[in-house]
Amino acid sequence: MKKVLVTGGLGFIGSHTAVELLARGYRVVIADNLSNTRPEVLDGIERIAGQRPEWVNVDLADQSRCRTFLAAHDDLDGIIHFAASKAVGESVEKPIAYYANNLGSLCLLLDWLREHSECAFIFSSSCTVYGQAETLPIREDAPVKPAESPYGNTKQIGEEIIRDAVRAHGLRAIALRYFNPIGAHPSAAIGELPLGVPQNLVPFITQSAAGLRGPLKVFGNDYPTRDGTAIRDYIHVVDLAQAHIVAMERLLAGEATEPFEVFNLGTGKGSTVLEVIQAFDRAAGDATVEWQFAPRRAGDVIEAWADTSRAAEVLGWRAERSLDEAMADAWRWQVALGAAAPDDGTR
Ligand code: WQD
Repeated sequence: MKKVLVTGGLGFIGSHTAVELLARGYRVVIADNLSNTRPEVLDGIERIAGQRPEWVNVDLADQSRCRTFLAAHDDLDGIIHFAASKAVGESVEKPIAYYANNLGSLCLLLDWLREHSECAFIFSSSCTVYGQAETLPIREDAPVKPAESPYGNTKQIGEEIIRDAVRAHGLRAIALRYFNPIGAHPSAAIGELPLGVPQNLVPFITQSAAGLRGPLKVFGNDYPTRDGTAIRDYIHVVDLAQAHIVAMERLLAGEATEPFEVFNLGTGKGSTVLEVIQAFDRAAGDATVEWQFAPRRAGDVIEAWADTSRAAEVLGWRAERSLDEAMADAWRWQVALGAAAPDDGTR
């Protein structure tokens, strides 16, 4: 039974990936310091998987703690690395903390991989690296633009660090550039759990519809798009999780054709903000979300959606779930959370 470390495995994408790994018979170890999640997520993983993976509360950016943790797990076959700070706005206010955490933890993991080069390494990257791409859909060889935020820069620099480490030490790595992850596990046992006021569109929609927030502000209705609102490629989190397994198994089977490969993970379809709201209204039964137009949000790109042909042709993976399905799963998860007041005390 192969053993896989999921860093940030109590987070949104990490928890869904842990569930998929367990379903495929992998032994899973989760490293998560609860900086952006809650321990109850482990109960949700257990409810779905029927087994409780080992969880270690460890700060992977802390050199001695990270090294002690890895020394105790010297037999890893794979590492799927999600653990990182990921709030775009917060990264602008606290750039040093973002570089120290996101790049510090990455370097410590890569340092361990130097002595364990057979271990497959999957890096959580983001379409943020493309900025506003000139050509749509966006291909993996699209130029990487200067990052719009320190968060996005940690993904760009992270990929460069991995590329150099792979070259120098013969490692095997894949970076997965996510577009917009949304939705929740259909069981409603795990889902997106933003702590504080949600910055992302879909959790704000579901919390607003649940009466936990005021009306949704639609940031900008004067974009040069079909309805004036910005376009993104929204991918169901379960599709995203399954892609991580496919990528890792590619490395474990020695099928990678380059030491460091990069893949976009999206649906290949762009949706405007208004279309996401309409999908929610279709999917959430009698629940509706109130919304109003507001000025554009600084740093937002106009439109981004993935060219998915490389993932399809090389990984043999395609997203299968629709926007409506993701909105239905997101709403079911919000309802399951109940009227638990947001932990920031605001409405
Ligand atoms: C989507 C669209 C907003 C909130 C970010 C990160 C990216 C990744 C995903 C981590 C935009 C609009 C949003 C709201 C709105 N994160 N919106 N009202 O900005 O595309 O991507 O999250 O990896 O790296 O950059 O996602 O959900 O914040 O915004 O109108 O209250 O919804 O303007 O057009 P984004 P988002």
